[in-house]
Amino acid sequence: MYTQGLNEQTGRPVAAEATEDEARLRAFQARIDAEEKIEPKDWMPDAYRQTLIRQISQHAHSEIVGMLPEGNWITRAPSLMRKSILIAKVQDEGGHGAYLYSAAETLGVSRAELIDQLLSGRAKYSSIFNYPTLSWADVGAIGWLVDGAAIMNQIPLCRCSYGPYARAMIRICKEESFHQRQGYDIMLKLARGTAAQRRMAQDALDRWWWPSLMMFGPPDAASMHTAHSVRWKIKRFTNDELRQKFVDFTVPQAKFLGLNVPDPALRWDAEAGMHRYGEIDWTEFNQVLKGHGPCNRERLAERRAAHEDGRWVREAAAAHAAKHGARAAA
Ligand SMILES: [Fe+2]
Ligand SMILES: [Fe+2]
Repeated sequence: MYTQGLNEQTGRPVAAEATEDEARLRAFQARIDAEEKIEPKDWMPDAYRQTLIRQISQHAHSEIVGMLPEGNWITRAPSLMRKSILIAKVQDEGGHGAYLYSAAETLGVSRAELIDQLLSGRAKYSSIFNYPTLSWADVGAIGWLVDGAAIMNQIPLCRCSYGPYARAMIRICKEESFHQRQGYDIMLKLARGTAAQRRMAQDALDRWWWPSLMMFGPPDAASMHTAHSVRWKIKRFTNDELRQKFVDFTVPQAKFLGLNVPDPALRWDAEAGMHRYGEIDWTEFNQVLKGHGPCNRERLAERRAAHEDGRWVREAAAAHAAKHGARAAA
């Protein structure tokens, strides 16, 4: 994951486009409407650039912070096979972060600047990674639900109007699909296991269901970025549309597992051809976004420590590059 369509503003406000040259704006929109890809050196409205920097960097941060809750279980995975799968998955997430920082850099922002925004707490990442992983079943629930929600969000991004982001998403989506399946496989094993294992799987679903629905971001009525992002074909579906697809896709999977979705209001609406679900606790969502979720402080502290631990590597690489640069110039 994990773009969340959040409301915070960074950079110039979207209204700044009003000052852009009208003819160029029209030509730009015509290219978007014709499904052409916008490439880094092409002219683009400043608000388009800022929206993409915000979204891609938030997505990159989410991939990197998302390594932490699952990384927590690598040493405790129940078998060698599960351990190797989990290591591969966590490594994939690191790779997703790397592609996405590179895609953001094509828009004229440096990776160092973006990482500084994350570590200083100015940038957001997906709210979901501020919840703890209390049992092995949580690793299953994350793969099934969190990576599942990520796929729902990200498949339309493969057709995003910005070329570097769209191309990065194609490979990422292939890997997310493996992540989702490995998570569901863990849930299936637990759901068909002992009574204690079934309880563990149900408990994980109980704790991860609602935060997974929150991953799609605020409701459309409260999402200030949606209209522009849809017009620019950065987003193809609104937050609520994607959330609905996720519910419709996931509820039958929960039934197959024999687990109960923790929502007493959940019902199939045959007339509308969709599931109706209960009210999401947006107060909890906003609290987590403001930094008051169960693990916000812990996650940022871990990222800061990892950044410090890697300082010598960055310094050594910079010294090596400078030495070779000086040699080449001589
Ligand atoms: Fe990922
Ligand atoms: Fe993933």
